[in-house]
Amino acid sequence: MHNDVVLTGDRPTGPLHLGHYFGSLANRVRLQDTYPMYVLIADYQVITDRDLPGEIQRNTTELLLDYLAVGIDPGKVTIFQHSAIPELNQLLLPFLSLVSVSELSRNPTVKDEIAHSSQAAVSGLMFTYPVHQAADILFCKGTLVPVGKDQLPHVEVTRLVARRFNERYGEVFPLPEAMMGERPMLKGLDGGKMSKSRGNAIALSATEDETAALIRKARTDSDRLITFDETNRPEVANLLTLAGLCLGRPPQDIAEEIGYGGAVALKSLVTEAVNEFLRPIRKRRAELAETDVRTILAAGNEKARERAVATLGEVRAAMGF
Ligand code: TRP
Repeated sequence: MHNDVVLTGDRPTGPLHLGHYFGSLANRVRLQDTYPMYVLIADYQVITDRDLPGEIQRNTTELLLDYLAVGIDPGKVTIFQHSAIPELNQLLLPFLSLVSVSELSRNPTVKDEIAHSSQAAVSGLMFTYPVHQAADILFCKGTLVPVGKDQLPHVEVTRLVARRFNERYGEVFPLPEAMMGERPMLKGLDGGKMSKSRGNAIALSATEDETAALIRKARTDSDRLITFDETNRPEVANLLTLAGLCLGRPPQDIAEEIGYGGAVALKSLVTEAVNEFLRPIRKRRAELAETDVRTILAAGNEKARERAVATLGEVRAAMGF
């Protein structure tokens, strides 16, 4: 317990939304008081499923602003990025020697991403990025990895890499564990998976008007009596769940309060609840955007790099280089 180190991260591909907040950011803010913690802006991982890194500088800054606005405290948490830590990236080389090509091609998350990819060709990085993710976790000897279900295969790869390294070269790495939340799964406003690219997600950084417009377009049904019924009325239930999370109340209560108000009353309540909930976060975000937040990232990078230098040194020594 007391030697645990938490490592998690996100790819800087766009703004974080409420699904991220209730799915993982709120949990990080809780964990930062208990464990040493690293949060990775996984910039090199952006090019696994797209040809170009895109607006990488801007997306990196935006992600950093989202982190800081929700209360991730750089006094407690080391926030850093792949591209600033050469020694982390160098771990990929010995780690790749520890896994077979057939193990890499069996990874269910990678298979799924290839199936849904819009790229003309599948790159080698698509198959090997889970091993790079092992380097993300092991460079700081991370032991707890808070992630969603889709990331479990990558934590398995990390355990495999750690175990094989230790067997071949001597005990260097702890075996990390995934940490799954018990959080309710928020769906997008159209009832599908919440995702920026589907236009069904409320970004933390959206304006109140943008938020209202998105919720106005949300799918509901024509039954005027609002009830919390996840099986038969999933879209209505999802809106009630969202309002419940923002208000800290059970969704059933909120349904009862709306009663026969129908979709109109439901949507106005949800809009109010979301905007109220995000108001202090958005305010902090706007204030932070006026400051030089990049210095915070530079400080995190420096700390993470020291850790990576030490671990790479141990790895080289263990391997006899
Ligand atoms: N693959 C993760 C995602 O797309 C991001 C990530 C990169 C990560 N490296 C990590 C998550 C290490 C946890 C641990 O969300």
